[in-house]
Amino acid sequence: METIIKKIQRDNIDQETIKEAASLLKEGKLVAFPTETVYGLGANGLNPKACENIFKTKNRPADNPLILHISNIGMLYNLVSGVNEDAKKLFDLWPGPLTIIFKKSKLIPDVVTAGGDTVAIRFPKDEIARRLIEEANLPIAAPSANISGRPSPTKASDVYYDLNGKIPMILDGGESQIGIESTVIDLSSEIPTILRPGFYTYEYIKEILANLKLDDALIDDNKIPKSPGQKYKHYAPKAKMKIFVGNKAFDTIYQQAKAYEEKGLKVGILTFDDRINEVSKAYAISLGQRDDLRQMSHMLFSALRKMDRMKVDIILAEGVSEKNLGKSIMNRMKKSASGNVEYL
Ligand code: TXA
Ligand code: MG
Repeated sequence: METIIKKIQRDNIDQETIKEAASLLKEGKLVAFPTETVYGLGANGLNPKACENIFKTKNRPADNPLILHISNIGMLYNLVSGVNEDAKKLFDLWPGPLTIIFKKSKLIPDVVTAGGDTVAIRFPKDEIARRLIEEANLPIAAPSANISGRPSPTKASDVYYDLNGKIPMILDGGESQIGIESTVIDLSSEIPTILRPGFYTYEYIKEILANLKLDDALIDDNKIPKSPGQKYKHYAPKAKMKIFVGNKAFDTIYQQAKAYEEKGLKVGILTFDDRINEVSKAYAISLGQRDDLRQMSHMLFSALRKMDRMKVDIILAEGVSEKNLGKSIMNRMKKSASGNVEYL
């Protein structure tokens, strides 16, 4: 299959292009599209065959449910079996990088929920995503548009690298602004629980829902996550990765890099603007200003993919403390590194 990349201008969205992409979705085909978090691999969320195709195309484990994307809150009521007060409070954050888990309605195919009785819903802010969903007039199932296990795609070329020849169309709306996936919050049981931290942090949502908690697995790395997608190897670059956190992190990276280089290895380094000039630029990437967590989340996945293209043998990365957005970033980084973190 030939994969067509269709450029689309965010400030002047071409309706014909949206129509073309929406027709593919209505025919049961897959279309990758931009969102404010990462690119999604979309399918008609009410068509079981189309959704099965998402799993095949991404090589996604069958027990990992999909998020349904909507373009207005009205679409929600057919898809879920009840909307509680907590949910209504969180609607203030919609459209935006927030996914809410509800008890599902009868309309939802089993393949979407991986056989479970809950469904994940997201109302994205990205204008291209919203126009596409609106035109298709369907809830759009969309996981991140990467091969399972790889870093999520933040631009069309990342999607192309993973899925070229497997899907008919990629809508190219430029770089995803946020760069890490939405916050997933479970409202299907008694206590609202964050299952995946994202742009909206625990600290921020707790201001809205006072009894909010974090899934046990986000507090203790040895607990099994409640969200199936959180338990798999994820966001992994090709090279082995080690993370260092704390005041001595950069100096340790500097020394270890030297030692690896003496052994003839190509060492990739992830650090920040204030130290980047101290290392050879060849395989080092700055994730922006230290403390600018938004910039860091915007750049993280794209930096990991760049490391792959440079074919480094090992990646030594500076991590951050797990507060606010730092928690979401470290959630991704730790998975990228299979939990290999040193606190110094
Ligand atoms: O920002 C995002 O959320 C992106 C864009 C494309 O919208 N999508 C995304 O989808 O990250 P995906 O499939 O890569 O991650 C969805 C996460 C997985 O960890 C999955 O296990 C969890 O949400 N999830 C989906 N449905 C669930 C459910 N019913 N119960 C618990 N977790 C669920
Ligand atoms: Mg994903």
